[in-house]
Amino acid sequence: MMSKKILHSLNLNGEEVEVATPAGATLLETMREDLRILSAKRGCNQGVCGACTVLIDGKPVRACLTLTARCEGHAVQTMEGMGGDRVMATLQRHMVESGGVQCGFCTSGILISARELLEEDPAPSRAAVKTALSGNICRCTGYRTIVDAVCSAAEELAQ
Ligand code: FES
Ligand code: FES
Repeated sequence: MMSKKILHSLNLNGEEVEVATPAGATLLETMREDLRILSAKRGCNQGVCGACTVLIDGKPVRACLTLTARCEGHAVQTMEGMGGDRVMATLQRHMVESGGVQCGFCTSGILISARELLEEDPAPSRAAVKTALSGNICRCTGYRTIVDAVCSAAEELAQ
């Protein structure tokens, strides 16, 4: 039986969009299945891995734990909407150069958490970077190269 769909208005990456989703859909489901926003990944789908991290009103949230209905009236931002963001572009470049991207499944969530950190603390210690990224799980890199990337991006941005 088809579940009933509900129309939602969302502000996604600066644009107003309307989307019909099944009742109780999460933001992650709505983005990936109805809006073709694919940067946020479905890892654990239980709020643990951080692969689904997006910004709501500028703060990182787990899209897998967020109901789409709760996003009405709030600004949702994903990697797709950050093309012109200097901090994000710098983080991305350093992630690639340091080898912090391997399979890439965790990368979008990690970059969004890292960008939030640099917004709050433009010159973070290595320990602060590790703490800020502690909610983002990576199965490939061992984290050292990711932390290197965030630290070197912060250094470049401070120049
Ligand atoms: S998929 Fe949302 S935290 Fe893992
Ligand atoms: S690069 Fe593969 S999970 Fe992080």
